[in-house]
Amino acid sequence: MLGKVLVPCLEERGHKIKGLPREELDVTNYPQVLDLLTYAKPDLVIHAAAYTRVDQAESEPDLAYLINGYGTENIAIACNKLELPMLYVSTDYVFDGEQNRPYTPWDATRPLSVYGKSKLAGEKAVQRHLTRFYIVRTSWLYGPHGRNFVNTILDMAANRKPVRVVSDQWGTPTCTLSLSETLADLIATERWGVYHATDGGVTNWHEFAQAILNGWNARIEPIATSDLPRPATRPKYSVLDKTTLIHTIGREMIPWEESLRGYLELISVRQPA
Ligand SMILES: NC(=O)c1ccc[n+]([C@@H]2O[C@H](COP(=O)([O-])OP(=O)(O)OC[C@H]3O[C@@H](n4cnc5c(N)ncnc54)[C@H](OP(=O)(O)O)[C@@H]3O)[C@@H](O)[C@H]2O)c1
Repeated sequence: MLGKVLVPCLEERGHKIKGLPREELDVTNYPQVLDLLTYAKPDLVIHAAAYTRVDQAESEPDLAYLINGYGTENIAIACNKLELPMLYVSTDYVFDGEQNRPYTPWDATRPLSVYGKSKLAGEKAVQRHLTRFYIVRTSWLYGPHGRNFVNTILDMAANRKPVRVVSDQWGTPTCTLSLSETLADLIATERWGVYHATDGGVTNWHEFAQAILNGWNARIEPIATSDLPRPATRPKYSVLDKTTLIHTIGREMIPWEESLRGYLELISVRQPA
């Protein structure tokens, strides 16, 4: 989802960039990673691949750690060997959500799920092997390409299915289009470090669904997390503080409502007659 939007965004800014699907680069295959980076010798490696099935990870932790932990370590070791900087995309799920105020990049991590733990393993690998790195934590992604919450809610409403959405998990939806612009701004700075990058503002999944279906004749029932048991525990409150990023790139984040409007216009959603 992110990679396919990031590639054209960086191309538009004049970068020469090669997007690599799993078929061309399997991050769990160290010789392949090293060969490819040795041959390409890029100015920067952006690692946006991941095992992202949050609930399924609870029943296949070995695979989640293999891809997110070991796979990320492979890239970090190759970057170290070839003296290349690296950008690693991480997640708000490295936090436990118990703090009730936005998380800064310096706050203690305590992931609740296998997915969050495996992404944190990736962060640690990057920090262990490199000094020139960006770790960019983001949250609640949606955008063109692939399944995401926005499309799921739209499909449910279009098929007149009852929409029940949790209203007690707080965070910030982030469009891959605006995140790509932010990443493009950040990599121009060469100010290495850990950053939090999401769209602006705070909401919960129920309010987010209401904004997606704004103007539709659809009822969205708010429910509690406990009404919808899922294998992976999510943080209750995973809003990320973006102050350091805003100072570094010299601009504010676009509000999540504005990003969502742009995305809905892009996909030109029509409600049923
Ligand atoms: N989605 C979110 O809400 C969210 C929130 C916070 C952070 N993030 C992070 O943002 C980044 C981008 O997420 P996304 O939503 O764009 O994920 P995505 O749509 O699931 O894409 C992940 C990509 O990684 C590929 N991949 C999986 N295993 C691989 C391997 N061994 N070698 C090479 N490629 C492999 C997948 O290929 P296949 O399709 O072949 O499996 C897929 O193309 C990830 O680091 C994710 O952890 C996502």
